[in-house]
Amino acid sequence: SKTPVRVAVTGAAGQIGYALLFRIASGEMLGKDQPVILQLLEIPDEKAQNALKGVIMELEDCAFPLLAGVEAHSDPLQAFKDTDYALLVGARPRGPGMERADLLAANAQIFTAQGKALNAVASRNVKVLVVGNPANTNAYIAMKSAPDLPAKNFTAMLRLDHNRAASQLAAKTGTKVGDIKKLTVWGNHSPTMYADYRFATTNGQSIKDLVNDQVWNADTFLPTVGKRGAAIIAARGLSSAASAANAAIDHMRDWALGSNGEWVTMGVPSNGEYGIPAGVVFGFPVTTAGGEYKIVEGLEIDAFSQERINITLAELQGEQDGVKHLL
Ligand code: NAI
Repeated sequence: SKTPVRVAVTGAAGQIGYALLFRIASGEMLGKDQPVILQLLEIPDEKAQNALKGVIMELEDCAFPLLAGVEAHSDPLQAFKDTDYALLVGARPRGPGMERADLLAANAQIFTAQGKALNAVASRNVKVLVVGNPANTNAYIAMKSAPDLPAKNFTAMLRLDHNRAASQLAAKTGTKVGDIKKLTVWGNHSPTMYADYRFATTNGQSIKDLVNDQVWNADTFLPTVGKRGAAIIAARGLSSAASAANAAIDHMRDWALGSNGEWVTMGVPSNGEYGIPAGVVFGFPVTTAGGEYKIVEGLEIDAFSQERINITLAELQGEQDGVKHLL
């Protein structure tokens, strides 16, 4: 049987952690033949560490055959030791009266420390997924704080936006989500993201032709996908967790095991593709194979799309400018 791989998860006692760990341990992320060792990180706070202990008891009680070990940590230098995968879920949420700049600064501190720790102790091939918001900027900070690791190994989660868009398009076209191909989401994981179905097909038919309604695109589809997180908070009283965990599983599974030629969306550092300045962590269409992703190049960007891409890029550059002095 295969040698176990090490999977670090931060914020492990949080909502998303609770929806995520059991699926990693059951083999849904890295395959039903791949044993995993979970290296879980929480803040040193006693309540968080106790909650983490409870989650670990439940992991034990699931008796997952693929779970080769579980560790609880409060220090990223221990949690990230030799880790092959790192899912950075824990982040500082916006508290009452907290300004955006304070939020960025609080997260810059967390992701600088975690980037440095990954740089010091993780596997040299570690694949990093940042889920904690602001996800793109946190991924950028971690990447900048880990100069000895390949920049391409730092990614941000746009997959929930991608999956939300796929679900809306399946409903609109009366087809199945699994039949939808070549969908992507450009930009920042925020309401400014640009979900783009111009190239998408369902059962081989163009979704753009089937929908044939640019007003629906601009006034219904994009706001629905962009504000879906807020709609879930309004309905549930809590932010999306199971769907976020599911998207994290999808992102890592496709990165590790390949997308079989299909497009998926990942937030990855630009190399200048589509005029996005190098280093900006941006949602792009990618294909994945052999543990590597490749940005889909050569797509036409029409005027509407360029306008949307410019908006989400400007927001992202504003965030990155806001943390530059902290790096
Ligand atoms: P939560 O508040 O339930 O859990 C977060 C956990 O992280 C807490 O247990 C907290 O103690 C821990 N934590 C905070 N700072 C930490 C640090 N420095 N090291 C280790 N652990 C730390 O939050 P939830 O619902 O699990 O969400 C986690 C993050 O994911 C949030 O930032 C949220 O905004 C983000 N998110 C991102 C999505 C995306 O599509 N990219 C979708 C949904 C949520």
